Amino acid sequence: MSEQFLSVRDAIINRRSIKKFNGQSVKREDLLGIVDDAVWAPNHGNREPWRLVIACDDDLVALHQLLRELAVPKWQELSSEDLAKQMAKFTLPGGYAFVIVPEDARQKERLEDYAAASIFIQNIQLLAWDKGIGSCWKTPGFLDNPKFREALKVQPGERVIAMLQVGYFDEVPKGKERKTSAQFVTNFGE
Ligand SMILES: Cc1cc2nc3c(=O)[nH]c(=O)nc-3n(C[C@H](O)[C@H](O)[C@H](O)COP(=O)(O)O)c2cc1C
Repeated sequence: MSEQFLSVRDAIINRRSIKKFNGQSVKREDLLGIVDDAVWAPNHGNREPWRLVIACDDDLVALHQLLRELAVPKWQELSSEDLAKQMAKFTLPGGYAFVIVPEDARQKERLEDYAAASIFIQNIQLLAWDKGIGSCWKTPGFLDNPKFREALKVQPGERVIAMLQVGYFDEVPKGKERKTSAQFVTNFGE
């Protein structure tokens, strides 16, 4: 893992979601180091409304099998070549972090918790980027699948809000254009 030290601005502006990883694995201790810094996200009442299920190294074999089961329809009928092609988006990331938040029955707290967990995820993405590790927050439908929830031991009253794929990459995608403040800011009273 390279030791880069980007400015906050550089990290925010230049981070890209990485969707094409190169297969190099991410060390568990590197990912945990990032997570231990990312917890400094603002969060109301210091509830720290998140927990993670992480898959690195040897864990990935069983995770890939689960993802194949849930995300590749009729995978048994595919040739090994076609299956490998369809599975590449799952097998090339070097690690995974699934982010789980409590679903508070009170709407205000639930929204606050989702907001705080989102900031936590952004922190992970920026800190990873600073270390040369790319990431992509994904929300595939199977995150709510009972089979998937069971495999991750997600409890009633919890929700998986992110499949964060992390890993190394060879190319940085071009940034998608953003609006400028002039396009979405109005002055109070106007
Ligand atoms: C809540 C959330 C859900 C997302 N879900 C997906 C997803 O399911 N699949 C995917 O390819 N990208 C997903 N993304 C990543 C976006 O596609 C990406 O952030 C967007 O294209 C902007 O690119 P950038 O992150 O490089 O600036 C998600 C991002 C967020 C914040």
